[in-house]
Amino acid sequence: METLARLARVDMAAVDALIVARMQSPVPVIPLLAEHIVSAGGKRLRPLLTIAAARAIGSPAGQGIDNALKLAASVEFIHTATLLHDDVVDGSERRRGKVAAHLIWGSATSVLVGDFLFARAFELMVETGQLRALGILAQASSVIAQGEVLQLTRAHDLNLDQETYLRIVSAKTAELFAAAAEAGAVGVDGDQAATSALRSYGLNLGLAFQLADDALDYGGTSEALGKNAGDDFREGKVTLPLLLAVARTRGREDAFWERTINRGERTEDDFRRARELVIGTGSVSATLDAAGDYADAAKTALRVLPASPWRDALDGLADFAVSRAA
Ligand code: IPE
Ligand code: IPE
Ligand code: MG
Ligand code: MG
Repeated sequence: METLARLARVDMAAVDALIVARMQSPVPVIPLLAEHIVSAGGKRLRPLLTIAAARAIGSPAGQGIDNALKLAASVEFIHTATLLHDDVVDGSERRRGKVAAHLIWGSATSVLVGDFLFARAFELMVETGQLRALGILAQASSVIAQGEVLQLTRAHDLNLDQETYLRIVSAKTAELFAAAAEAGAVGVDGDQAATSALRSYGLNLGLAFQLADDALDYGGTSEALGKNAGDDFREGKVTLPLLLAVARTRGREDAFWERTINRGERTEDDFRRARELVIGTGSVSATLDAAGDYADAAKTALRVLPASPWRDALDGLADFAVSRAA
């Protein structure tokens, strides 16, 4: 992650400048709210992917890099919009180490500013004249929304199978990672083999990233995460570490899970107990192992690309997705 951030430092400074320029509006609350979440930072992983994909393909004299910068800013706008919406939907109180925007400006404003950022993303994409990249990110946007709705309709359901869980994760998270990498490749006219390798890398990286995120919700700390650990449990969200722990405590803890997840009756003490069970049954480490398998698949996909410092940095990013604490 650090290697990639260092390689991409100049490009990412340009992306950040674009983001700040394009989140402006004469309607005062819009830049205020956007600034709140944008300046809180975040890892900027998805725009990094777009830049790295474009650079790894190695276009002569950085041709088309202006397009990649705009596509990268679009990707971060889409991501930021989904975070604003997601925190309303999930009732989350913290994001990027700050109070969630909806607790300051209200849910309505937060959702509408999310819509504004979405729309700005599409304006930027149109400016590139890259209809293919626009198509990729438009499709990703509709897939994310479907993933979020599917997840919502399957909360509190301990009968959720792992296949449906993976379908949700793939849609709500991995699709944007895949699209971010693919759009970067398309923006510099990458050939078919390199473009699909980068898409496959992004998809597997995104799966690894979300599985690790779900593990960290039980195994991590709120301080490091910048959002509250335990949010998934509090929302009754059924994730892989929970599914594994339920299976591994079958016959012993059925009543506890039924009450806290299915019926949604729970206290803070219940979260502590759930965390003990999830960690104690090895379900956090099993989830991280599964994330590691996706990270390996991501690295394998990269082998199609020509060797370069960018390819090596993407390789390192796959390890970071699993080993991160924040
Ligand atoms: C948060 O993504 C949403 C998930 C997919 C878990 P990030 O963890 O990449 O969020 P920021 O942008 O770094 O804050
Ligand atoms: C991540 O959602 C994916 C999107 C925001 C679309 P989550 O609800 O799992 O992520 P966090 O825990 O709020 O970051
Ligand atoms: Mg959430
Ligand atoms: Mg959510």
